[in-house]
Amino acid sequence: DASQPAGPSFTAPGTLTPVLTEHWGEDRSWTLEHYLSVGGYEGLARAKTMSPEELIGLVKGSNLRGRGGAGFPTGLKWSFLPPMDGAPRYLVVNADESEPGTCKDIPTILANPQALIEGIAITSRAIGGDLAFVYLRGEVTHVYRRLLAAVREAADSGLLSTGFGLDGEQPLRIVAHAGAGAYICGEETALLDSLEGRRGHPRLKPPFPAVAGLYGRPTVINNVETIASVPGILAKGADWYNAMGTERSKGHGIFSVSGHVVSPGQFEAPFGITMRQLIEFAGGIRPGHSLKFWVPGGSSTPIFTPDELDVPLDYESVAGAGSMLGTRALQVFDDTVSVVRVVARWTEFYQHESCGKCTPCREGTYWMRQIMLRLEAGKGIPGDVEKLEDIASNIAGRSFCALGDASATPVLSGIKRFRDEFEAGYTTPARELFPYRASSIL
Ligand code: NAI
Ligand code: SF4
Repeated sequence: DASQPAGPSFTAPGTLTPVLTEHWGEDRSWTLEHYLSVGGYEGLARAKTMSPEELIGLVKGSNLRGRGGAGFPTGLKWSFLPPMDGAPRYLVVNADESEPGTCKDIPTILANPQALIEGIAITSRAIGGDLAFVYLRGEVTHVYRRLLAAVREAADSGLLSTGFGLDGEQPLRIVAHAGAGAYICGEETALLDSLEGRRGHPRLKPPFPAVAGLYGRPTVINNVETIASVPGILAKGADWYNAMGTERSKGHGIFSVSGHVVSPGQFEAPFGITMRQLIEFAGGIRPGHSLKFWVPGGSSTPIFTPDELDVPLDYESVAGAGSMLGTRALQVFDDTVSVVRVVARWTEFYQHESCGKCTPCREGTYWMRQIMLRLEAGKGIPGDVEKLEDIASNIAGRSFCALGDASATPVLSGIKRFRDEFEAGYTTPARELFPYRASSIL
């Protein structure tokens, strides 16, 4: 994209690349006034000079991939919408951030909501939409209020008053919708059911939402971070974006580091940075302790050990190490932590959040929870570990949606890496092997 000024070159993983997070710490960073003062809405101005095809081509050329976890190419997803046929098409932003450990979308909405709104405007223009929805977790009332205020501010300013819809001349309306706090409503088709007023249950795919989504109409569903990344690409160009990251995982991403590091937080970096480098940015493991295990993308991804600290955190390398990159929710556990106790908490979570639609997940998570709780209590029955492996293997690959697979992952990877600790649960409570101390919690 030679017409754009050359942006800073961020080729080296191992550096931080604050783009979305650049102004988070500044006074009233969430206001439109602040956003405009740092170059906000330049991307939308450029988008209004481009046709929908040109916009989709630019985003395809940037190689932006979905930041909700799956990493699906964003421009390609937009291009799957059928040709405009005179009836509505929608953008739905998935802000139901629920993966245990994930904390990037909610901070983005709190600190920089106008980047999301500008991204919604650009995306709506690209797909010919004039009505967009943001589906947010219901529990985060303060975030919902901030989003509503930001939408109102953008609408009142006139920035969204023309340039959208099938003829490219309509105003854009943005609806902020607060869900009721069900993890399954982050699954895109369950989210659509919920948005339509029904109980959130995943739908059979295909058809994908791009073809038949909200109210049966073509719908683009993207994560908050994906959409908030679009204005930068418009303003600075696809080449600028492509200069960051690895060969097939381009650009910047927010890596959320939580747990037993000195300074947990969000670190925005090019794809390909390693966990070892991120732990350094987070001030290291807390003094006097050593890293025991970690997960690369929330509880739905396998347990990694210090042996994997140098795996580049890009979609391909992490897949090569046997995991998804997921939401980059990097949770760090030190030597005071019982793997059994952690896996038991995650298993309780999945059992609670299973929507009940399919048998392997509904029944399997229930039985895994029972066994994990007795192992945690030191009351396991010899053979429980094999039984857990059997149940988890029968959930994985046999469930209706990704939640079932996710529930099996911590159990199977935990047993693979720390079998002794699971077997110790036949005789010894986890709290005796790893005595709880208040200092375990930072
Ligand atoms: P997926 O790989 O099935 O789909 C990814 C996206 O690509 C979807 O929007 C889908 O509609 C689209 N897509 C895929 N193939 C398509 C085709 N042929 N035509 C049109 N569109 C197509 O992944 P899924 O189940 O949507 O998401 C799983 C991911 O969600 C996991 O990687 C996990 O990390 C992440 N996740 C994120 C959470 C969060 O809190 N952000 C919570 C739980 C999981
Ligand atoms: Fe519901 Fe679990 Fe089946 Fe997904 S895998 S449809 S959450 S029961």
